[in-house]
Amino acid sequence: ITRVLDIDNINLNELDKQAQLLREGKTVIFPTETVYGLGANALDEQAVKKIYEAKGRPSDNPLIVHIYKKEEVYELAKDISKKAEDVMQRFWPGPITLILNKKNIVPYKTSGGLDTVAIRMPSHKIAREIIRMAGIPIAAPSANISGRPSPTKAEHVYEEMNERVDGIVLGGDCDFGLESTVVDFTSEIPMILRPGSITKEDLEKVIGNVILDPSLEKKEDNKKAKAPGMKYTHYSPNADVYIVSGKKEDVFQKINNLVVENQEKGLKVGVMCLSQNKKMYSGEVIGLGNTLEEIARNLFDVLREMDKIGVDRVYSEAFTTEGLGQAIMNRLVKSAGYKIIKA
Ligand code: TXA
Ligand code: MG
Repeated sequence: ITRVLDIDNINLNELDKQAQLLREGKTVIFPTETVYGLGANALDEQAVKKIYEAKGRPSDNPLIVHIYKKEEVYELAKDISKKAEDVMQRFWPGPITLILNKKNIVPYKTSGGLDTVAIRMPSHKIAREIIRMAGIPIAAPSANISGRPSPTKAEHVYEEMNERVDGIVLGGDCDFGLESTVVDFTSEIPMILRPGSITKEDLEKVIGNVILDPSLEKKEDNKKAKAPGMKYTHYSPNADVYIVSGKKEDVFQKINNLVVENQEKGLKVGVMCLSQNKKMYSGEVIGLGNTLEEIARNLFDVLREMDKIGVDRVYSEAFTTEGLGQAIMNRLVKSAGYKIIKA
């Protein structure tokens, strides 16, 4: 039986019961500012094993360790560079994860067999409070079944994960809606392994030159990605997703043709687009928002919504890869399994 706590009834006593589950080596889902996380004691191999089981996640895919205060990073990691310190100083607590050389205290089960560890200090009030109460670093991947879109709303977590974990704290919608930016600080020039809300441009203002894992920019399947998680199928709804890119007018026409073509075959077709473009399309049309921030916040929810409607195919407009667009397109391209149609 899963112990469920809803934000509307939150009191410190109930939250402490959830933190106690974590102290006992059990699993608890809680909200963060990016997506919901599925947490357990990062320093306890048996506890961490339960995370992999609950998600059905391959065990070579390492976990992010969540901490309450900055100083904890020195207990978990070594060889911390000035650049890494500047980034922690500027962006923590917040949606950015640092890859650092791990100390022995971090089990290989947590680091997926690597000598490095991913560390993040979240800013979400409930996340911070539960980590503080637990008094231990908390390993927490996104709280979805492996391969599914990350959960960004309480209902996503409840529908998919109830009875798979020991505790759930339901805390409403996540602010950013995409997972944290992951940056590797183990070599001279920091490398973004997973783009997120804190962009390359944001980082460069603080630490100068930052590079993007080259495998992220390739159109084909990125089996060589540095972040193990980036090589797996990801963010996939049941429907087959296609991205349509090109000039605005051409995209309108191409998607409309594809919708009609597929409807004639008897398929149910969804379209994802800028909200202001909704009227251009037929089929099951869902607007993702009109700004990059809105699109980031809504993307995973809309992918899940398409499954609820039961569409067979989804055609999505392509978005810019500038700024936050980099993270949005990274997730969208993966959810489409790299299927991009030129209009
Ligand atoms: O926003 C987030 O980061 C959320 C919330 C819950 O904090 N967590 C999250 O965790 O997205 P997860 O496990 O779904 O994604 C972690 C990513 C994976 O792509 C993983 O391969 C990569 O970070 N990663 C973790 N440790 C790593 C390491 N030592 N070296 C390289 N990549 C690592
Ligand atoms: Mg994930």
